[in-house]
Amino acid sequence: MKAALISGSSSGIGRAISEKFLERGIRVIGLARNHSKFKPDEKNYTPIEADLSKVKRLPELIKSILKENPDIDVFVSGAGYGDFKSLENFSSPQIENFINLNLVSHIILCRAIVAHMKSQGNGDIFILGSEAGVIGKKKATLYSAAKFGLRGFAQALRNEAGPAGVRVCLINPGMVRSPFFDKLGFEPDGLETNAIETEDIAKIVFDFLGTRQGTIIDEINLSPASKSLKFKKVGKLDV
Ligand SMILES: NC(=O)c1ccc[n+]([C@@H]2O[C@H](COP(=O)([O-])OP(=O)(O)OC[C@H]3O[C@@H](n4cnc5c(N)ncnc54)[C@H](OP(=O)(O)O)[C@@H]3O)[C@@H](O)[C@H]2O)c1
Repeated sequence: MKAALISGSSSGIGRAISEKFLERGIRVIGLARNHSKFKPDEKNYTPIEADLSKVKRLPELIKSILKENPDIDVFVSGAGYGDFKSLENFSSPQIENFINLNLVSHIILCRAIVAHMKSQGNGDIFILGSEAGVIGKKKATLYSAAKFGLRGFAQALRNEAGPAGVRVCLINPGMVRSPFFDKLGFEPDGLETNAIETEDIAKIVFDFLGTRQGTIIDEINLSPASKSLKFKKVGKLDV
């Protein structure tokens, strides 16, 4: 591995993967809106500020990133957020913004990156899906729409790019303890069995990279051992 582009590097899962890669000597180019949350004292880390929901700007952005960092051979497509409520409570702009970030931005970035990796003859793409991309549940209409979309996208792209040496792996976690829940009305309850730790995902991603290039791990489904939730504002939640 030479260099990794990680979207959502400033927090949670992307941050843990960035830390793991840096620790193992892999150069990281991090994409997020606000890098003040994660500032590793590392010459190997390059933060790039970008709002990935502004999808019209993405082709130019990724073109310049690849031009300046032609050695990128790993892409972790992780930027995303959750919003859970009944469908009728989303406005049209909210729906557009949500799908733009959680689905469209991943596709546009992968489009340029997969072409780049195919021309190099190798590369690894990890896409952050979710258990909500495997089963749809109430209040998760948009989240599941984006994550089911990513799952189909990853399956098709894997078949398309595999023969050219590019591996596409979809990661489908259940609840992961991270700032993902900061703006939500619930979070995993305190017991450590109620959530996956971000470091677990970072370890899995790093270990995957050490496998023989000819083998692809299509999808990784992870669950916490128990699934108790803590509601932050009981009575005020949308029902
Ligand atoms: N936590 C869970 O339980 C869980 C479970 C399954 C799947 N996932 C998925 O895992 C991924 C990462 O989640 P996480 O738990 O690590 O959440 P997190 O701690 O909230 O991190 C989200 C990351 O995405 C970035 N991001 C959000 N909006 C962005 C935008 N408009 N433009 C650029 N970057 C943006 C954030 O950076 P800035 O805010 O600085 O822009 C941050 O780095 C998401 O795709 C999520 O759906 C999470």
